[in-house]
Amino acid sequence: MTMEENIRIKKTVTFVKDQLKYAEGGHDWWHILRVWNTAKTIAAVEGGNLLVIELAALLHDIADSKFHQGDESLGPKVATGFLKSLELDERLIQQVVFIIGHMSFKGGKEQPENKLLEFQVVQDADRIDAMGAIGIARTFNYGGFKNREIYNPEVPPNRNQSKEAYKKSKAPTINHFYEKLLLLKDLMNTQTGKKMAEQRHQFMELYLDQFFAEWNCES
Ligand code: ADP
Ligand code: NI
Repeated sequence: MTMEENIRIKKTVTFVKDQLKYAEGGHDWWHILRVWNTAKTIAAVEGGNLLVIELAALLHDIADSKFHQGDESLGPKVATGFLKSLELDERLIQQVVFIIGHMSFKGGKEQPENKLLEFQVVQDADRIDAMGAIGIARTFNYGGFKNREIYNPEVPPNRNQSKEAYKKSKAPTINHFYEKLLLLKDLMNTQTGKKMAEQRHQFMELYLDQFFAEWNCES
C-alpha cells in the first residue's frame, strides 16, 4: 500500500474506535481488530485489493442494525459519509459500502451472486471470528447482554427462521450454535477460509459435547 493509503487506514482506525467505544464486548473494537488481521492473513494467500479489504473489514460493524432498532441502512450511510471524507475513488467507495451492506448472516440468506474476491475475504474473516473459542465467548457475551437464558431444553433450535424472526429471537444462547455457528464452516467462500474454519468448528463440537455431558450429569 502507498503512504497515502496507509494514512487513510490510520484515519479509519481512529474513526472506528470512536464509533465503537460503547459497543457490546462481542462487537467492539477488538472484534474489528481480529477481523482486520484475519482478512489480511486470508488476502495474503487469496489476493484481492488490500485497500478495499482493509476498509471493509474496519467498517463492517459500525452502526450495526442489531444495536440501532433494526435499521440496516444506517451502517452503509455512516460508512459512505466517512469514506467520502477520505476523498477516495467513487468506485472504491461503492465496493466497500456494498460489502458491508451485504455480508451479515441474517442478510446472508439472500446473498448476492458473483461476490467480489474482496467481499469473500472479509466475509470469511468475520465468520471465522464467530467460530471457535472466541466465537463461543462472543456468543455468550451477546446472550448475557440481551439477558437470554444459557440453555433451555424446552426451546428447540429453529434452523429455518425468516430474517425477521432471527432478528427478534429471544431463544437461549445455546440455540445460536445450531441456528448459525455450526453452519458457518460450509458457508466459507475461500479455500484459506475453509481451512481456518475447520479446526474452530471441531472445537465448538467438542465444547457442545462437554456442555451437554455436564448438563445431563454424564461427566
Ligand atoms: P448476525 O447479526 O448476522 O448474526 P453478527 O456477525 O453481527 O451476525 O453476529 C456476530 C456474533 O454476535 C455472533 O457470531 C454471535 O457470537 C453473536 N450473536 C449474534 N446474534 C446472536 C444471538 N441471537 N444469540 C447469541 N449470540 C448472537
Ligand atoms: Ni462482525
